[in-house]
Amino acid sequence: MEDKKILFSAIQPSGILTIGNYLGALKNFRKLQSDYNSVFSLADLHTLTVRQDPAVLRKNTYELAALYLACGIDPEESVLFVQSHVAAHAELTWILNTVCYPGELSRMTQFKDKSLKHEDNVNMGLMDYPVLMAADILLYQTDLVPIGADQKQHLELARDLAIRFNNRYGETFRVPEGYFGKTAARVMSLAEPDRKMSKSDSNLNAFISMNDDRDTIIRKFKRAVTDSGSSITASPEKPGITNLLTVYCAFTDKSLKEAEDEFEGKGYGDFKLAVGETVADVIDPIRLEKNRILEDKQYIDSVLKSGAERAERLAGRTLAKVYKKVGLVPRARG
Ligand code: TRP
Repeated sequence: MEDKKILFSAIQPSGILTIGNYLGALKNFRKLQSDYNSVFSLADLHTLTVRQDPAVLRKNTYELAALYLACGIDPEESVLFVQSHVAAHAELTWILNTVCYPGELSRMTQFKDKSLKHEDNVNMGLMDYPVLMAADILLYQTDLVPIGADQKQHLELARDLAIRFNNRYGETFRVPEGYFGKTAARVMSLAEPDRKMSKSDSNLNAFISMNDDRDTIIRKFKRAVTDSGSSITASPEKPGITNLLTVYCAFTDKSLKEAEDEFEGKGYGDFKLAVGETVADVIDPIRLEKNRILEDKQYIDSVLKSGAERAERLAGRTLAKVYKKVGLVPRARG
């Protein structure tokens, strides 16, 4: 690999993604990939922390692999692999567990939220989720981790564990930094703009899925809830319009001011149509390309195979170092 800084990120193959996930993750990944030695993972082990249907998980994993590729992740340039294909992730998790305290995990916001949501399945994996995520990141001596704001606490833990391990056993891990896209890309529900856009919303009109076709996208934006008044300006009193402006800016890379100027004097109807068309122009081709790639499972398997081999080499170096530092006797070879 060239002498660039290392970037690592991952997405869970746990179902359809929304344009919020696209803006918060995939769009940034594509933009950043050539400036770094980039490693992107499909975090399938993480999905097991909530109940999955095995057949659906398999399907979702292929879907996500195809989506990564359709969004412009170049499998030659970047390393694209499935987390469970590289055993070092589970192995380093065990070692990091021995330098992590239960209190650090039980006070995680996401653990508390998910424990309430999945009351009947508060398992050890759910609690240990951030340690597995720390292993993901630290195995690659990562410099930069593009993540959404909701993962900030988890990244903080990865940093803490790296520092703690280094202090106890000597310099081993690089301490990673977070990268938060410039449009904090907090995309809100199209139906209730004071709530985050969520793929699990029972109102299908509230979110745009990466699987929505052009007409569906435009129709959903036409139906998006707006606010009283008629000016197209961002303000706390206008959460609906503000959200649509945010989405428009994120998709066009325009500033808020530019967008407000562009729509000055226009009606809500025209504005919503313009936002819908703009989003559809980006998302619909990605969907078509993803479906095209999905038809060639062999191709996807070959990409993931070479990704796993490259990831394994990189991760293996760190894991070997860790095992040595903590005093595990290396297995004799040959
Ligand atoms: N927990 C992340 C999410 O749900 C996904 C993830 C797993 C991840 N491992 C990671 C993100 C490592 C960044 C780095 O969004």
